[in-house]
Amino acid sequence: MVEPKVELASISLFRATPAQIEETRRRRWPHLGGTLSLAEYITRDEEMDRANELGRVLAPREDPMTLDFMCACRTYKRASLVAYPFSSASEPNLVHETTSYGIAAVFTPPSKRGRGYAGHMMRLLHWVIASRDNLPEFPEIWGTPPEEVADAGGGLFSVLWSDVGEEFYRSAGPGGEGDGWEKRGPVSTVWEVGTEEGDDEGWKWLTQEQLKGLWDHDAGLIKKELENMLVKNGLYEVGHPTALATCLPTNGVAAFQIPRATYGSNFSMAGGFWGVQSLSNPDTYASWSVEMQSSPPTLIVTRLWASEDTFPGLIAKIKQAARRSGIRKVEVWNLQVGLRVVAEKTGARTFIRSEHLPQIMWYGPGTTKNVEWIHNEK
Ligand SMILES: CC(C)(COP(=O)(O)OP(=O)(O)OC[C@H]1O[C@@H](n2cnc3c(N)ncnc32)[C@H](O)[C@@H]1OP(=O)(O)O)[C@@H](O)C(=O)NCCC(=O)NCCS
Repeated sequence: MVEPKVELASISLFRATPAQIEETRRRRWPHLGGTLSLAEYITRDEEMDRANELGRVLAPREDPMTLDFMCACRTYKRASLVAYPFSSASEPNLVHETTSYGIAAVFTPPSKRGRGYAGHMMRLLHWVIASRDNLPEFPEIWGTPPEEVADAGGGLFSVLWSDVGEEFYRSAGPGGEGDGWEKRGPVSTVWEVGTEEGDDEGWKWLTQEQLKGLWDHDAGLIKKELENMLVKNGLYEVGHPTALATCLPTNGVAAFQIPRATYGSNFSMAGGFWGVQSLSNPDTYASWSVEMQSSPPTLIVTRLWASEDTFPGLIAKIKQAARRSGIRKVEVWNLQVGLRVVAEKTGARTFIRSEHLPQIMWYGPGTTKNVEWIHNEK
């Protein structure tokens, strides 16, 4: 049954209560549960719950704790870095630690869809995750701004990966229609996994446990990369970036991809290996997850670091890991331009994807259009 639409001013965004979080899991299960039973899906979701995750619901102002809320989403607070690039090559860019938010699990139950609820939720979301200094005036027609939650705001930017095209999130700006999240670099590079085997000499395979030791090192390299990044035309999505923004892989952000992908599927990588690192060059490494739903199942690289010289060897190891686990396709998102050329020589195909679109919204001075998102892989 389609329900009547309500006035926007009579609803607002609230932090989800535990009962509402459970209700979001029940709502999402028929659509996203796959082969998992409801109980398994709820358990998986509970286990995936992370310290910096917050459920948010759009609900009537007069009954914010109702289980009959309009729609919901989750936000993840992320340690991040931002660099303001100098144009001169002799000085390193200033890099600052900052906070950003990842947004996921945007969901309206079928009976409430098409009434503008999810769009309104996304518009209000800016008001609770951003620092409000640079937001436009809060539209009067929406009533009063939603209440901020302690320690869950102050974000300099936010990111999401859209599975409903670009427009829905782009049109959801903090002041109304338009000026919302902008698409950045939905570029995929894909290899078919062949039959050739190699030996393991010179490489160290990494288990989930061993990968934990990698993220601090990885964050250090990302920081150095931002310091030394020259703003040259042709290297970026945006013409002349005024800020370079990135989320860090630390605090479970990168690690989270593995259990999320494999829960309940009985799948494990051969040897339990989810990463590989060069022994002679510790700055050459990769970690990965698997996308079981895609056809064929695909090994998705979650982090990768290599030079143009070491990349062919690294990709051979990644393909080997895939082959040994019965996976026939390897995919990397938004590979650096220099490595894309090398990738082609190793048989890869690079193309613009039409799904899982990375979208970013900037809350600092200036506009989103001049912000480059570095490392937009999940
Ligand atoms: C996408 C979703 C959250 C929209 O919720 P909603 O409350 O109906 O959203 P609104 O009423 O504010 O906006 C509806 C608009 O969403 C957009 N939209 C919804 N589903 C879409 C899809 N699969 N592809 C492209 N656009 C889509 C359309 O522009 C639609 O406009 P229309 O009413 O003119 O058709 C809801 O359809 C849903 O929960 N879908 C399943 C889960 C999902 O895909 N979530 C998004 C993951 S990134």
